[in-house]
Parts: sequence; C-alpha cells; structure tokens
Amino acid sequence: MIKFLTAGESHGKGLTTIVSGFPSNFELSEDYVNFHLARRQMGYGRGLRMKIETDKAEILSGVRFGKTLGSPISLFIKNKDWENWTDKMSLEPIEKEIEKITIPRPGHADLVGTLKYNFNDIRNSIDRSSARETAARVAAASIARKFLSNFNIQIGSFVESIGGIYPRENFIDKIFNGEISQNYSAEKLNHISDKSAVRVLDAQQENKIINKIKLAKKKGDTLGGTFYVVVTGVPVGLGSFIHYDEKIEAALSHAVMSIHAVKGVEVGIGFEGANLFGSQVHDEIIIKKNNFYRKTNRAGGIEGGITTGLPIIIRGAMKPIATLMSPIESVDLATMKKVIARRERSDFVAVPACAVIAESMVAWVIADFFLKKFGGDSIEETKDNFMNFTQKYFQRVKSNFGEK
Ligand SMILES: Cc1cc2nc3c(=O)[nH]c(=O)nc-3n(C[C@H](O)[C@H](O)[C@H](O)COP(=O)(O)O)c2cc1C
Repeated sequence: MIKFLTAGESHGKGLTTIVSGFPSNFELSEDYVNFHLARRQMGYGRGLRMKIETDKAEILSGVRFGKTLGSPISLFIKNKDWENWTDKMSLEPIEKEIEKITIPRPGHADLVGTLKYNFNDIRNSIDRSSARETAARVAAASIARKFLSNFNIQIGSFVESIGGIYPRENFIDKIFNGEISQNYSAEKLNHISDKSAVRVLDAQQENKIINKIKLAKKKGDTLGGTFYVVVTGVPVGLGSFIHYDEKIEAALSHAVMSIHAVKGVEVGIGFEGANLFGSQVHDEIIIKKNNFYRKTNRAGGIEGGITTGLPIIIRGAMKPIATLMSPIESVDLATMKKVIARRERSDFVAVPACAVIAESMVAWVIADFFLKKFGGDSIEETKDNFMNFTQKYFQRVKSNFGEK
C-alpha cells in the first residue's frame, strides 16, 4: 500500500527519501519529522559523527498548508559532514590522488560488498552499507507514525540491556501480564526512556551500563544489546493467515531484522515460550467492556498473523559495533597479507539509536497493514472505514453466534 525508497551515501551530499501511498489531509510538519530524527541521534557511546550532525529533514513535496496532499512526499537530509568529503566522495572524476581503502573490517560489509560489486576501493562499500541510511528511514517512517497517531496508535521503545547488563525489574513482564493495557500509551514509555542516556527504564542499570561502555572505550572495544518496541492502540484484525507474506509478525520481523547489526528478533515471549508448557504460554480469552480481551499478552499482540488488539511487543538483539579501535585480524587486499583491521571513525555503542530505528520500521509496517485493511484516499475516508469495523465486529459476532 505504502512504499519508500532511500538514496544517499554516508559521506555524500545527503540522504533522500520518497514516501508514497498515504492518504490526503492529515497534518505533517518538518518539526515532527525532526523530533524523531533527533531521537535517533541520542545515546551515550556514539562517535564523533553524531556530534557534527544535527539531522534536519526538508520536506520538498506532498504537503500544503501543513497537510498531506496524497501525493508522494519527498524529504532531504543534508549531511553536514559533506563539506569535509567533497574530494573523497566527488561525483566527478578528479585529478587528485585519493588514497584507497584496502583492509576490510570483520563484521562490516566491507569485504562482501567489495567482492559483490567489483570495487577497487572499500570506501564504495562502506558508504552505502553504513547505518547513516537509517536517518532517511526514520524520516520516512515518521510520516507513518503521524498517520497512525490519527487513530491513537503509538510506538515506543526502550533498551533492555547493553553489554549483558539487564534491569533489576523485568518491565516487559508487566506488559505480558496485561498490567499495561490499551489505556497505556507507548509514548509514555518514550517519555521515560528518552530521558535516559542509554534509553533504559532503570536508573541503577543506566550507571552500570555507562561504566561498561567506558570500559569498552578504554579497551578500544564495542558493545551490543537488546531492546523492546511496543505498539499500543492497535486494532484487532491487521494482517492475515491467508498467505505467508500477509502475516504481520513476519513483516515486522523482516523490518526489524533489516536494520544494520540486528541479528535477532522475537515476538511476545518468543524463545522463552519454547521451554514452557502451553498453559503457561497462551493468553486466556475474556470479555471486558463489550470487547474480547486476554488475561495476559505473551503472544505479543499477534495470533495467526493477525493483531489481537493488545499491544504489539517486539524484542531485537543488536550485535556489537564492527569497527574496533583495538582491531582484530583481517587481510590487506593490496598485498593479500595478514594485517590488523582498519580503524574508522565510529560509534562504540548504538543500541539506543537502534531501538528508535526499530520503532520507525515497526511504525512503517503497522501503517502498511492498517491501510491494507482500512484503505482510503483521504484521512476522513480511512477514519470512516476504521470506525465501521472497530465499532461493529463485537456486535456482529454476537448476532452470528448468539441465540436467534
Ligand atoms: C544506529 C547504528 C549505528 C551504527 N554505527 C556504526 C558505526 O559507527 N561503526 C560500525 O562499524 N558499525 C556501525 N553500525 C553497524 C553497521 O552498520 C553494521 O554492522 C554493518 O552495516 C554490517 O551489517 P550487519 O551487521 O547487519 O551484518 C551501526 C548500526 C546502527 C543501527
């Protein structure tokens, strides 16, 4: 239903994205997009690059008088660092000798990209494989978020662990056990996590994590971690069991897994459920306030590829950053001899940013499935379709199954 493309190299002029398929007439501003771009830049342990860049998106089309037109929305984010790279990343051939990068970093896309695209300089591989591209994703997905806010669907996240340091209290248990119901908004989660330097919910854990990041920096090493994304206000019925690519958890996993350095995705209690009895895993069905409800939410808001109406809960695992200041072994492609890997300006930890990017990818998928179900060329039409389904399905079940 909706689509976006991103273009741009990490040290090129900037990043572009074109977003298409959203209805007309909902409010959208550059400030809203920039608010989420700023959230992507937060987090203790980022490299020098984040200090240079303050990402600002310029909306070039698709909006008039603060409202969407239904036409493609194009956005541009300037790379402030471009000024220092005009020679190295010149579009035109240049006379000046530019030193080639010949030593690939293990864990990065350096070697595989060079082999695949037949490059003679690893820089060509580095610049597009860099997670800088995710700034354009966050900008594109902020449109999805804004669209979803018209239906009170909110997306939040927090960092669960960095470097193996977990919180004392498992906050997510409250969500699984239904304490955090439809009334809780994911934005509240962001209000808490955005205040933390590493986007955690437990202040004691924050100090321990910062100390561990300091240790990693001192050793020239890096860290990864785990994070949760939570979506509240999701209606019943997004996704389908009819075809493999219509199952919403499949699309959500794909979207989160597509983020640089994410190596694991879980829905609900995921892997933990594999060790338990069925009675300890499945969520009992109850009726509350003229609606179907569950006593718990271990399924993470999805059954049979379809949303249940409870919060969607996704957990992701990010591997440690590949660029090490105390590098491990590699090979120099110029000599084919064993060397230690190259250093490159880099983050030490980016799990807090990764969680915000995961929010964005999740928002995108939810908006896509939402529009597949409810459609509409204008937001007014989408709202009518939404109300028609959500206000009637309970009554319909009653008349389908009830005594005549
Ligand atoms: C927000 C974010 C920032 C990142 N920053 C860096 C970085 O500064 N240095 C680095 O080596 N990798 C960084 N990465 C990870 C690499 O982009 C990633 O490991 C690389 O593209 C290879 O892809 P893969 O890990 O998915 O196999 C970052 C990832 C994310 C999500």
